[in-house]
Amino acid sequence: MSNVLTMNQLTNEEIHSILNDAEQYKLGNGWRPSDTVFVSNLFFEPSTRTRFSFEVAEKKLGLQVLNFTAEHSSVQKGETLYDTVKTLESIGANAVVIRHQQDHFFENLIDKVSIPIINAGDGCGHHPTQSLLDLLTIKQEFGHFEGLTVSIHGDIRHSRVARSNAEVLTRLGAKVLFSGPSKWQDSTNTYGEYVDVHTAIQESDVVMLLRIQHERHEEKDQAKDYLYEFGLTKEREKLMKKHAIIMHPAPVNRGVEIDGDLIECERSRIFKQMENGVFARMAVLKRALQQIEQNQEVMKHV
Ligand code: CP
Repeated sequence: MSNVLTMNQLTNEEIHSILNDAEQYKLGNGWRPSDTVFVSNLFFEPSTRTRFSFEVAEKKLGLQVLNFTAEHSSVQKGETLYDTVKTLESIGANAVVIRHQQDHFFENLIDKVSIPIINAGDGCGHHPTQSLLDLLTIKQEFGHFEGLTVSIHGDIRHSRVARSNAEVLTRLGAKVLFSGPSKWQDSTNTYGEYVDVHTAIQESDVVMLLRIQHERHEEKDQAKDYLYEFGLTKEREKLMKKHAIIMHPAPVNRGVEIDGDLIECERSRIFKQMENGVFARMAVLKRALQQIEQNQEVMKHV
């Protein structure tokens, strides 16, 4: 089953293959299904980039898109996630893309449904397609991962992006640094070393900022002074290496984790990341769906 649930489930070879496919899609090449294929997008948490870049990716591949919103579905009548996915499978969906507030929501599905599940973000858990588009952006910039230093700044503990990226970047040969408030350090994420904000910015080839995940905090924090204590100010941007780039999964809180004037500066790849999201997601959909088509082809000849 070609699920995409976490980055650590993908081998290095599979990751490079997905990145190569994404590059081909960017050039206008690549696999497209020959038959009708239905994909359903189930978003139980807000999303702009992931949701719409999946939809664009699906439409570019010629897929039939079944968009789902929890507030207009039988979730309102108490239907469980499992029953919703099983229903979509029964009526003909060939794959599901799911964003859900529950960490590891997919564990209750993987052995019970027979269509691929693509994780579009699970609580504080994982965000593998964000990680793949981030890798694609870094690869386009540097051509490799080995020997790079990537610093991830901010609310590390509640960030599925930090979890997915730190593991895979380390595995691919990059060094990961973390920086941010001590209350948001993550003892379960052992792939990076915590350093102060200046060290992180000065040593990095990639400065990756995160928003404060207020919706996952029990106490409502005030972001007052956050930019000056932990964020990327214009003064700190001047400390960056000449070739270093700025990344952020977005949405961006202007003036909190980054000075608003830096969001579209020469070093920023934030909108490039979003553009790459479409191609990375096309490659992930190919991985999920090509196998189904091959199986259908085999069944025709049995
Ligand atoms: N980066 C990201 O996941 O953005 P959305 O929440 O808008 O999908």
